[in-house]
Amino acid sequence: MKTKIGIIGSGVVSQVLADGFLKHGYEVKIGSRDTSKLNEWKNKAGEKGTIGSFAEAASFGEIIVLAVKGSAASEALKLAGETNLKGKTIIDATNPIDNKAPENGVLKFFTNLDESLMEQLQMKFPGANFVKAFNSVGNPMMVNPDYKGIKPTMFICGNDENAKKEVKHILDQFGWETEDMGKVEAARAIEPLCMLWCIPGFIKNEWTHAFKLLKM
Ligand SMILES: NC(=O)c1ccc[n+]([C@@H]2O[C@H](COP(=O)([O-])OP(=O)(O)OC[C@H]3O[C@@H](n4cnc5c(N)ncnc54)[C@H](OP(=O)(O)O)[C@@H]3O)[C@@H](O)[C@H]2O)c1
Repeated sequence: MKTKIGIIGSGVVSQVLADGFLKHGYEVKIGSRDTSKLNEWKNKAGEKGTIGSFAEAASFGEIIVLAVKGSAASEALKLAGETNLKGKTIIDATNPIDNKAPENGVLKFFTNLDESLMEQLQMKFPGANFVKAFNSVGNPMMVNPDYKGIKPTMFICGNDENAKKEVKHILDQFGWETEDMGKVEAARAIEPLCMLWCIPGFIKNEWTHAFKLLKM
């Protein structure tokens, strides 16, 4: 079993997922261009939680989490180093959110419905195995959320079956039901779930929901 997680990104998503991995017994290295941002997290994380550059986090991780601003994702992966990503599962939590303001609570994306951010990243870094996950729920609910016994659904996709198995195992531990939507192109549908998820937040200040796929 892979127990070393490298996280590219230092924001709230990175830190919440890092804490989740530590809680479930993994070792974690969070990467940033400026590790001073992570001193507070490091002080609370214990010996299994360390910090470093994007490249150091990517090299450390047997599995990698990508949790940076969507528009910077490609640049961050370049800084992480293509050889450090080769053959590894990359859990892609990013969303292609544009800088323009939301319209009536609907976020603007810099991608279109025929090409998602994850497809762009998979094309640029063909040696890595991207799996979309954690992009369409707010960070407070990412790890073992309490929906009174009901497991919410995490929609995932990616080209590599084994990478998706690794992500499903993590999602099982993090209290999610996994719905595999197929290959990388499905990110065209999964990334915009973030827009849908954010609307109640922007228009009604409701930020605690999660999606559940019902089946007959
Ligand atoms: N916030 C949520 O609840 C939530 C939920 C689901 C998905 N997401 C998605 O998860 C991702 C991370 O979100 P977040 O709120 O934790 O953080 P964020 O503020 O979107 O991103 C912060 C990270 O982006 C990196 N970054 C910014 N500009 C960069 C550049 N020019 N080159 C390289 N790296 C750059 C920063 O690197 P440094 O550390 O080097 O400064 C930092 O690590 C986003 O794509 C977001 O859409 C967020």
